[in-house]
Amino acid sequence: MSNPLDVLQEKIIQSQSIVVLTGAGVSQESGIRTFRGEDGLWNDYRPEELANYESFVKDPATVWEWYEWRKKIIIDSKPNDCHYGLSTIESKKKLSIVSQNVDGLHDEAGSKNLIELHGNIWETLCVQCKDIRKNKSLHETIPPYCSLCNGLLRPNVVWFDEIIPMSTIESISEKINDCDLFLILGTSGLVQPASWFGMHAKQKDKYVIEVNIDITPNNQFYDLHIQSKVGEVFSRLNYDF
Ligand code: APR
Repeated sequence: MSNPLDVLQEKIIQSQSIVVLTGAGVSQESGIRTFRGEDGLWNDYRPEELANYESFVKDPATVWEWYEWRKKIIIDSKPNDCHYGLSTIESKKKLSIVSQNVDGLHDEAGSKNLIELHGNIWETLCVQCKDIRKNKSLHETIPPYCSLCNGLLRPNVVWFDEIIPMSTIESISEKINDCDLFLILGTSGLVQPASWFGMHAKQKDKYVIEVNIDITPNNQFYDLHIQSKVGEVFSRLNYDF
């Protein structure tokens, strides 16, 4: 079987348990810009000024303005064939998604078994009382304050100077240990810890398929690389299984 799409289809059908790592490329066809590459956000903005707790504390309004700008784009975006394809597969077999995306589109597409590794742009976290709220709307005033304790609210996302709890990493490792197919979709594989998971899957002898419009650093270690748009790939799969 030489057609890569046929291999992907067959592997999905044969697998008992699938783990999927997604990145910004998965939402690109929904109209949300990625971070790196030709049209990447980090070509126009400086991560160290906008995606750090330290810079947030210095200038919360500027950081919030950037998040509100992104929220305005995301609020009008809809899940694409990749998001829906994954939720359809999850309705038929064991599938977990580990997403680096904060846009909430996997949830909107109906995925349940979902770890939002870098948080969710629609959630706020009070820096004082730690209350977390989810509200899919824009703030009237920036920066927003907590309705419970009047503390400063921040987006509930993970910034570059913050760490993801070890318990989360362990639970993802366990899912990978238990799966038979690991899919890596639309991520540059440049940001840890997500970038480790593909290699972890290979060390555990799992079948790893990557879908990306580009070549990625670890690409050579995976079993199959499909160089295409993820939405297009998932639109061509057959879900009658
Ligand atoms: N289909 C498949 N792949 C795509 C598509 C598409 N339609 N569009 C873009 N890509 C690929 C790009 O080739 C690139 O490899 O998606 C990848 C996106 O990479 P990044 O922009 O680096 O996004 P991601 O890997 O999710 O970034 C990780 O970095 O700054 C942060 O916190 C942010 O969660 C993000 C993290």
